[in-house]
Amino acid sequence: MKPLPLSLVLWLIALQSNLSLAYWRMACSVSQTARVDPILNPGEVSAHAHKFAGGSNVNQNSDFTSLQSSTCSSCEVQKDTSAYWTPQLYYAHANGDFEEVPNYGMTVYYVGRGGNASNTVPFPAGFKMISGDTRQRSYDTSTLTYLETRPVADRVSFRCINEANDIPETHYISQTDCVNGLRAQINFQSCWDGVNTYLDNSAHVAYLSGIDYGVCPPTHPVSIPGLFFEVLYFTNLIDQSSGGEFVFANGDPTGYGFHGDFLNGWDMDVQTAAVENCLYTDNGGVISACSYLTESDDVNFSRTCPEQPSVLDEPIHGNISALPGCNPITPGPGLAEPLYYVHNCRNLWDELNRGNDIN
Ligand SMILES: *[C@@H]1O[C@H](CO)[C@@H](O)[C@H](O)[C@H]1NC(C)=O
Ligand SMILES: *[C@@H]1O[C@H](CO)[C@@H](O)[C@H](O)[C@H]1NC(C)=O
Ligand SMILES: *[C@@H]1O[C@H](CO)[C@@H](O)[C@H](O)[C@H]1NC(C)=O
Repeated sequence: MKPLPLSLVLWLIALQSNLSLAYWRMACSVSQTARVDPILNPGEVSAHAHKFAGGSNVNQNSDFTSLQSSTCSSCEVQKDTSAYWTPQLYYAHANGDFEEVPNYGMTVYYVGRGGNASNTVPFPAGFKMISGDTRQRSYDTSTLTYLETRPVADRVSFRCINEANDIPETHYISQTDCVNGLRAQINFQSCWDGVNTYLDNSAHVAYLSGIDYGVCPPTHPVSIPGLFFEVLYFTNLIDQSSGGEFVFANGDPTGYGFHGDFLNGWDMDVQTAAVENCLYTDNGGVISACSYLTESDDVNFSRTCPEQPSVLDEPIHGNISALPGCNPITPGPGLAEPLYYVHNCRNLWDELNRGNDIN
Protein backbone atom coordinates (compact mmCIF):
# COMPACT_ATOMS: atom_id res chain seq x y z
CA MET A 1 0.00 0.00 0.00
CA LYS A 2 1.10 3.55 -0.67
CA PRO A 3 2.08 5.84 2.20
CA LEU A 4 -0.63 8.08 3.54
CA PRO A 5 0.50 11.50 2.25
CA LEU A 6 0.00 10.58 -1.42
CA SER A 7 -3.41 9.12 -0.72
CA LEU A 8 -4.45 12.25 1.12
CA VAL A 9 -3.27 14.48 -1.71
CA LEU A 10 -5.23 12.42 -4.21
CA TRP A 11 -8.20 12.33 -1.89
CA LEU A 12 -8.51 16.08 -2.25
CA ILE A 13 -8.92 15.57 -5.97
CA ALA A 14 -11.50 12.88 -5.27
CA LEU A 15 -13.44 15.29 -3.10
CA GLN A 16 -13.97 17.80 -5.89
CA SER A 17 -17.60 17.82 -6.83
CA ASN A 18 -19.98 19.69 -9.05
CA LEU A 19 -23.00 19.22 -6.78
CA SER A 20 -24.73 22.52 -6.11
CA LEU A 21 -27.31 21.19 -3.67
CA ALA A 22 -27.13 21.34 0.09
CA TYR A 23 -25.26 18.35 1.43
CA TRP A 24 -22.53 17.17 3.74
CA ARG A 25 -19.82 14.74 2.82
CA MET A 26 -17.61 12.55 4.96
CA ALA A 27 -14.27 11.10 4.04
CA CYS A 28 -14.05 7.48 5.16
CA SER A 29 -11.14 5.06 5.24
CA VAL A 30 -11.54 1.29 5.08
CA SER A 31 -12.93 -0.43 8.18
CA GLN A 32 -12.63 -3.96 6.80
CA THR A 33 -12.25 -5.95 3.56
CA ALA A 34 -14.17 -9.21 3.81
CA ARG A 35 -16.55 -11.62 2.08
CA VAL A 36 -19.30 -10.34 4.31
CA ASP A 37 -22.72 -8.79 3.61
CA PRO A 38 -24.90 -8.34 6.71
CA ILE A 39 -27.94 -7.29 4.62
CA LEU A 40 -28.04 -10.07 2.00
CA ASN A 41 -26.18 -12.81 3.87
CA PRO A 42 -26.69 -12.33 7.61
CA GLY A 43 -24.74 -14.91 9.58
CA GLU A 44 -23.17 -16.32 6.42
CA VAL A 45 -20.27 -15.85 4.08
CA SER A 46 -21.12 -13.46 1.25
CA ALA A 47 -20.65 -14.58 -2.34
CA HIS A 48 -18.09 -11.83 -2.97
CA ALA A 49 -15.66 -9.55 -1.19
CA HIS A 50 -16.61 -6.04 -0.07
CA LYS A 51 -14.74 -3.04 1.22
CA PHE A 52 -16.45 -1.55 4.28
CA ALA A 53 -16.36 1.92 5.77
CA GLY A 54 -17.86 3.23 9.00
CA GLY A 55 -18.33 1.48 12.35
CA SER A 56 -15.40 -0.69 13.43
CA ASN A 57 -17.66 -3.46 14.75
CA VAL A 58 -18.78 -4.77 11.38
CA ASN A 59 -19.26 -8.46 10.60
CA GLN A 60 -21.75 -10.88 9.04
CA ASN A 61 -24.19 -10.37 11.95
CA SER A 62 -24.14 -6.56 12.06
CA ASP A 63 -27.32 -4.65 12.78
CA PHE A 64 -28.17 -1.21 14.12
CA THR A 65 -27.58 -2.23 17.74
CA SER A 66 -24.28 -4.04 17.21
CA LEU A 67 -22.88 -1.17 15.15
CA GLN A 68 -23.53 1.14 18.11
CA SER A 69 -20.90 -0.77 20.08
CA SER A 70 -18.16 0.07 17.56
CA THR A 71 -15.11 1.55 19.28
CA CYS A 72 -14.66 4.06 16.44
CA SER A 73 -15.75 4.97 12.92
CA SER A 74 -13.51 4.94 9.86
CA CYS A 75 -15.62 7.88 8.68
CA GLU A 76 -14.55 11.23 10.02
CA VAL A 77 -17.79 11.80 11.97
CA GLN A 78 -17.33 9.48 14.92
CA LYS A 79 -21.02 9.51 15.85
CA ASP A 80 -21.69 7.79 12.55
CA THR A 81 -20.95 4.10 13.10
CA SER A 82 -23.12 3.05 10.16
CA ALA A 83 -21.76 0.49 7.71
CA TYR A 84 -21.21 1.45 4.08
CA TRP A 85 -19.88 -1.07 1.56
CA THR A 86 -19.12 -1.73 -2.10
CA PRO A 87 -17.44 -4.62 -3.97
CA GLN A 88 -13.63 -4.68 -4.04
CA LEU A 89 -11.91 -4.12 -7.42
CA TYR A 90 -9.13 -6.41 -8.65
CA TYR A 91 -6.94 -6.54 -11.75
CA ALA A 92 -7.02 -9.94 -13.48
CA HIS A 93 -3.46 -10.32 -14.81
CA ALA A 94 -2.96 -12.35 -17.98
CA ASN A 95 -0.98 -14.90 -15.90
CA GLY A 96 -4.13 -15.68 -13.89
CA ASP A 97 -3.27 -13.70 -10.74
CA PHE A 98 -5.72 -11.20 -9.29
CA GLU A 99 -4.23 -8.05 -7.84
CA GLU A 100 -6.18 -5.90 -5.39
CA VAL A 101 -6.51 -2.39 -6.80
CA PRO A 102 -5.33 0.09 -4.15
CA ASN A 103 -8.20 2.00 -2.57
CA TYR A 104 -8.25 3.89 0.71
CA GLY A 105 -11.95 4.13 1.39
CA MET A 106 -14.82 6.20 0.08
CA THR A 107 -16.51 9.55 0.32
CA VAL A 108 -20.10 9.42 1.57
CA TYR A 109 -22.48 12.26 0.70
CA TYR A 110 -25.77 13.07 2.43
CA VAL A 111 -27.70 15.28 0.02
CA GLY A 112 -30.98 17.17 0.39
CA ARG A 113 -32.66 16.23 -2.87
CA GLY A 114 -35.93 16.60 -4.68
CA GLY A 115 -38.72 19.15 -4.50
CA ASN A 116 -39.75 17.91 -1.06
CA ALA A 117 -36.28 18.06 0.51
CA SER A 118 -37.38 20.25 3.42
CA ASN A 119 -39.44 17.30 4.67
CA THR A 120 -36.45 14.96 4.70
CA VAL A 121 -36.51 12.54 7.64
CA PRO A 122 -33.42 10.84 9.12
CA PHE A 123 -32.77 7.16 8.45
CA PRO A 124 -34.58 5.35 11.28
CA ALA A 125 -32.97 2.75 13.56
CA GLY A 126 -32.81 -0.58 11.72
CA PHE A 127 -32.94 1.03 8.30
CA LYS A 128 -30.87 -0.57 5.53
CA MET A 129 -30.85 -0.50 1.75
CA ILE A 130 -28.99 -1.58 -1.35
CA SER A 131 -28.53 0.34 -4.59
CA GLY A 132 -27.38 -1.31 -7.80
CA ASP A 133 -27.66 -4.90 -9.05
CA THR A 134 -24.71 -7.27 -8.74
CA ARG A 135 -26.01 -9.35 -11.72
CA GLN A 136 -26.09 -6.54 -14.31
CA ARG A 137 -23.54 -6.72 -17.12
CA SER A 138 -25.08 -4.34 -19.67
CA TYR A 139 -27.04 -1.09 -19.79
CA ASP A 140 -30.67 -1.82 -18.91
CA THR A 141 -32.75 0.66 -20.93
CA SER A 142 -36.13 -0.78 -19.91
CA THR A 143 -36.21 -0.36 -16.12
CA LEU A 144 -37.17 3.28 -15.62
CA THR A 145 -37.65 5.59 -12.66
CA TYR A 146 -41.01 7.06 -11.63
CA LEU A 147 -42.66 9.00 -14.50
CA GLU A 148 -40.37 7.05 -16.84
CA THR A 149 -37.84 9.81 -16.52
CA ARG A 150 -34.57 7.89 -16.55
CA PRO A 151 -33.15 4.35 -16.68
CA VAL A 152 -32.34 3.29 -13.12
CA ALA A 153 -29.05 2.05 -14.60
CA ASP A 154 -27.91 5.68 -14.38
CA ARG A 155 -27.54 5.26 -10.61
CA VAL A 156 -24.05 3.86 -11.31
CA SER A 157 -21.33 5.96 -12.91
CA PHE A 158 -17.58 5.95 -13.40
CA ARG A 159 -15.22 8.87 -13.75
CA CYS A 160 -11.73 8.35 -15.13
CA ILE A 161 -9.78 11.15 -13.47
CA ASN A 162 -7.05 12.84 -15.46
CA GLU A 163 -5.27 16.07 -14.60
CA ALA A 164 -7.83 18.26 -16.38
CA ASN A 165 -10.69 16.17 -14.91
CA ASP A 166 -12.54 16.53 -18.23
CA ILE A 167 -13.31 12.93 -19.21
CA PRO A 168 -17.10 12.46 -19.31
CA GLU A 169 -18.66 9.99 -16.88
CA THR A 170 -20.01 6.71 -18.18
CA HIS A 171 -22.33 4.13 -16.63
CA TYR A 172 -19.75 1.36 -17.10
CA ILE A 173 -15.97 1.02 -16.95
CA SER A 174 -14.77 2.53 -20.23
CA GLN A 175 -11.33 4.06 -19.76
CA THR A 176 -8.89 2.79 -17.13
CA ASP A 177 -5.70 4.71 -18.05
CA CYS A 178 -6.60 7.37 -15.50
CA VAL A 179 -3.61 9.29 -14.13
CA ASN A 180 -5.44 10.02 -10.87
CA GLY A 181 -7.47 6.84 -10.66
CA LEU A 182 -10.90 5.56 -11.62
CA ARG A 183 -13.79 6.66 -9.41
CA ALA A 184 -16.87 4.47 -9.06
CA GLN A 185 -19.98 6.38 -7.98
CA ILE A 186 -23.44 5.33 -6.93
CA ASN A 187 -26.65 7.17 -6.05
CA PHE A 188 -29.11 5.60 -3.63
CA GLN A 189 -32.88 5.75 -3.44
CA SER A 190 -34.00 8.92 -1.64
CA CYS A 191 -37.73 8.10 -1.34
CA TRP A 192 -39.08 5.84 1.42
CA ASP A 193 -42.45 4.16 2.08
CA GLY A 194 -42.32 5.60 5.59
CA VAL A 195 -43.05 2.24 7.20
CA ASN A 196 -40.56 -0.54 6.52
CA THR A 197 -36.91 -0.36 7.54
CA TYR A 198 -36.15 -3.03 4.93
CA LEU A 199 -37.95 -5.12 2.32
CA ASP A 200 -36.52 -7.69 -0.09
CA ASN A 201 -35.09 -6.09 -3.23
CA SER A 202 -35.13 -2.76 -1.38
CA ALA A 203 -38.85 -2.40 -2.19
CA HIS A 204 -39.21 -0.07 0.83
CA VAL A 205 -37.33 2.65 -1.07
CA ALA A 206 -37.52 4.20 -4.54
CA TYR A 207 -35.44 6.52 -6.66
CA LEU A 208 -36.43 10.10 -7.31
CA SER A 209 -37.87 10.50 -10.82
CA GLY A 210 -34.51 11.82 -12.03
CA ILE A 211 -32.46 9.71 -9.55
CA ASP A 212 -30.54 12.74 -8.25
CA TYR A 213 -33.37 15.26 -8.84
CA GLY A 214 -37.13 15.23 -9.32
CA VAL A 215 -40.02 13.89 -7.27
CA CYS A 216 -40.83 10.81 -5.20
CA PRO A 217 -43.47 8.31 -6.37
CA PRO A 218 -46.74 8.36 -4.34
CA THR A 219 -45.94 4.82 -3.11
CA HIS A 220 -42.77 6.17 -1.46
CA PRO A 221 -43.66 9.74 -0.46
CA VAL A 222 -41.17 10.29 2.37
CA SER A 223 -37.84 11.98 1.52
CA ILE A 224 -34.76 10.44 3.10
CA PRO A 225 -31.24 11.87 2.69
CA GLY A 226 -29.84 11.21 -0.79
CA LEU A 227 -26.86 8.93 -0.21
CA PHE A 228 -24.09 9.07 -2.79
CA PHE A 229 -20.80 7.12 -2.61
CA GLU A 230 -17.56 7.88 -4.42
CA VAL A 231 -14.95 5.12 -4.36
CA LEU A 232 -11.57 5.96 -5.86
CA TYR A 233 -9.47 3.08 -7.19
CA PHE A 234 -5.84 3.75 -8.04
CA THR A 235 -5.94 1.87 -11.35
CA ASN A 236 -2.88 3.94 -12.31
CA LEU A 237 -0.77 2.03 -9.74
CA ILE A 238 -1.40 -1.31 -11.46
CA ASP A 239 1.17 -2.51 -13.98
CA GLN A 240 -1.00 -3.34 -16.98
CA SER A 241 1.91 -3.92 -19.41
CA SER A 242 1.46 -7.72 -19.50
CA GLY A 243 -2.25 -7.48 -20.21
CA GLY A 244 -5.36 -8.23 -18.22
CA GLU A 245 -8.57 -6.53 -17.15
CA PHE A 246 -10.14 -4.89 -14.14
CA VAL A 247 -12.81 -6.98 -12.49
CA PHE A 248 -14.95 -6.47 -9.40
CA ALA A 249 -15.03 -9.15 -6.71
CA ASN A 250 -18.43 -10.34 -8.00
CA GLY A 251 -16.79 -11.27 -11.32
CA ASP A 252 -17.99 -8.14 -13.11
CA PRO A 253 -15.47 -6.63 -15.56
CA THR A 254 -18.05 -4.18 -16.99
CA GLY A 255 -18.98 -2.00 -13.99
CA TYR A 256 -22.71 -2.36 -14.67
CA GLY A 257 -22.89 -4.66 -11.64
CA PHE A 258 -21.37 -2.12 -9.23
CA HIS A 259 -23.50 -1.67 -6.12
CA GLY A 260 -23.51 -0.06 -2.70
CA ASP A 261 -25.02 -0.98 0.65
CA PHE A 262 -25.98 1.04 3.71
CA LEU A 263 -26.83 -0.20 7.20
CA ASN A 264 -27.78 2.62 9.56
CA GLY A 265 -25.67 2.73 12.71
CA TRP A 266 -25.83 6.45 13.51
CA ASP A 267 -26.17 8.03 16.89
CA MET A 268 -29.80 8.94 16.19
CA ASP A 269 -29.75 12.27 18.02
CA VAL A 270 -26.78 13.44 15.96
CA GLN A 271 -28.17 12.21 12.66
CA THR A 272 -31.58 13.74 13.37
CA ALA A 273 -30.11 17.14 14.24
CA ALA A 274 -27.81 17.08 11.20
CA VAL A 275 -30.62 16.11 8.79
CA GLU A 276 -32.92 18.80 10.24
CA ASN A 277 -30.33 21.56 10.15
CA CYS A 278 -27.59 20.80 7.63
CA LEU A 279 -29.32 19.60 4.45
CA TYR A 280 -30.78 22.95 3.37
CA THR A 281 -27.86 25.34 3.11
CA ASP A 282 -25.13 24.83 0.55
CA ASN A 283 -21.88 25.06 2.51
CA GLY A 284 -19.85 23.11 -0.01
CA GLY A 285 -20.39 19.95 1.99
CA VAL A 286 -17.82 20.74 4.66
CA ILE A 287 -18.38 19.05 8.01
CA SER A 288 -17.19 22.17 9.84
CA ALA A 289 -20.35 23.99 8.63
CA CYS A 290 -22.57 21.59 10.59
CA SER A 291 -21.99 21.95 14.33
CA TYR A 292 -23.83 18.70 15.11
CA LEU A 293 -21.28 16.80 13.02
CA THR A 294 -18.25 18.88 13.97
CA GLU A 295 -18.61 17.83 17.60
CA SER A 296 -17.39 14.32 16.79
CA ASP A 297 -15.28 15.09 13.71
CA ASP A 298 -11.91 13.31 13.88
CA VAL A 299 -9.58 14.47 11.12
CA ASN A 300 -7.24 11.58 12.00
CA PHE A 301 -9.91 8.94 11.47
CA SER A 302 -7.79 6.79 9.12
CA ARG A 303 -5.13 6.39 11.84
CA THR A 304 -7.34 6.31 14.91
CA CYS A 305 -9.74 3.81 13.30
CA PRO A 306 -7.56 1.60 11.09
CA GLU A 307 -8.75 -1.30 8.93
CA GLN A 308 -9.60 -4.38 11.01
CA PRO A 309 -8.53 -7.84 9.82
CA SER A 310 -11.23 -9.71 7.94
CA VAL A 311 -13.52 -11.73 10.22
CA LEU A 312 -12.93 -14.55 7.70
CA ASP A 313 -9.49 -16.05 7.28
CA GLU A 314 -8.95 -16.08 3.52
CA PRO A 315 -6.58 -14.28 1.10
CA ILE A 316 -8.19 -11.03 0.05
CA HIS A 317 -5.41 -8.41 -0.17
CA GLY A 318 -2.49 -8.02 -2.58
CA ASN A 319 -1.97 -10.69 -5.22
CA ILE A 320 -4.24 -13.71 -4.92
CA SER A 321 -4.63 -16.74 -7.17
CA ALA A 322 -8.43 -16.45 -7.50
CA LEU A 323 -11.14 -13.97 -6.67
CA PRO A 324 -12.31 -14.58 -3.07
CA GLY A 325 -14.84 -17.42 -3.35
CA CYS A 326 -13.15 -18.50 -6.63
CA ASN A 327 -15.78 -16.48 -8.48
CA PRO A 328 -15.64 -16.74 -12.28
CA ILE A 329 -15.35 -13.63 -14.46
CA THR A 330 -18.79 -13.04 -15.98
CA PRO A 331 -18.63 -10.46 -18.80
CA GLY A 332 -22.29 -10.73 -19.84
CA PRO A 333 -24.04 -9.10 -21.62
CA GLY A 334 -26.82 -11.18 -20.02
CA LEU A 335 -27.44 -11.12 -16.27
CA ALA A 336 -24.73 -12.99 -14.37
CA GLU A 337 -25.78 -16.26 -12.78
CA PRO A 338 -25.94 -16.24 -8.99
CA LEU A 339 -22.60 -17.25 -7.50
CA TYR A 340 -22.41 -20.70 -5.95
CA TYR A 341 -19.85 -22.10 -3.57
CA VAL A 342 -17.15 -23.45 -5.81
CA HIS A 343 -15.53 -26.84 -5.23
CA ASN A 344 -11.79 -26.73 -4.71
CA CYS A 345 -12.15 -23.26 -3.24
CA ARG A 346 -11.72 -23.17 0.51
CA ASN A 347 -15.15 -23.73 1.94
CA LEU A 348 -15.44 -20.93 4.45
CA TRP A 349 -19.14 -21.54 4.75
CA ASP A 350 -18.51 -24.92 6.38
CA GLU A 351 -15.98 -23.35 8.70
CA LEU A 352 -18.42 -20.64 9.64
CA ASN A 353 -21.08 -23.21 10.50
CA ARG A 354 -18.57 -25.05 12.66
CA GLY A 355 -17.73 -21.79 14.37
CA ASN A 356 -14.09 -21.82 13.28
CA ASP A 357 -11.93 -19.02 12.03
CA ILE A 358 -14.28 -16.21 12.82
CA ASN A 359 -14.64 -14.04 15.86
C1 LIG B 1 -43.67 15.51 1.06
O1 LIG B 1 -43.28 14.86 2.27
C2 LIG B 1 -44.38 14.65 3.16
C3 LIG B 1 -43.80 14.10 4.48
O2 LIG B 1 -42.86 13.10 4.28
C4 LIG B 1 -45.35 13.67 2.49
O3 LIG B 1 -46.45 13.41 3.34
C5 LIG B 1 -45.86 14.31 1.19
O4 LIG B 1 -46.69 13.42 0.51
C6 LIG B 1 -44.68 14.68 0.28
N1 LIG B 1 -45.15 15.43 -0.87
C7 LIG B 1 -44.79 15.14 -2.12
C8 LIG B 1 -45.34 16.03 -3.17
O5 LIG B 1 -44.05 14.22 -2.40
C1 LIG C 1 -4.10 14.60 14.24
O1 LIG C 1 -2.82 14.04 14.17
C2 LIG C 1 -1.78 14.98 14.13
C3 LIG C 1 -0.46 14.24 13.90
O2 LIG C 1 -0.31 13.19 14.81
C4 LIG C 1 -1.77 15.76 15.44
O3 LIG C 1 -0.76 16.75 15.40
C5 LIG C 1 -3.13 16.44 15.59
O4 LIG C 1 -3.20 17.09 16.84
C6 LIG C 1 -4.26 15.43 15.49
N1 LIG C 1 -5.53 16.16 15.49
C7 LIG C 1 -6.52 15.85 16.29
C8 LIG C 1 -7.74 16.70 16.18
O5 LIG C 1 -6.50 14.91 17.05
C1 LIG D 1 1.25 -8.42 -8.10
O1 LIG D 1 1.81 -9.06 -9.23
C2 LIG D 1 2.11 -8.17 -10.30
C3 LIG D 1 2.62 -9.00 -11.47
O2 LIG D 1 1.78 -10.08 -11.74
C4 LIG D 1 3.15 -7.16 -9.85
O3 LIG D 1 3.39 -6.24 -10.89
C5 LIG D 1 2.64 -6.42 -8.62
O4 LIG D 1 3.64 -5.58 -8.11
C6 LIG D 1 2.19 -7.38 -7.52
N1 LIG D 1 1.50 -6.60 -6.51
C7 LIG D 1 1.66 -6.79 -5.21
C8 LIG D 1 0.83 -5.93 -4.32
O5 LIG D 1 2.42 -7.62 -4.74
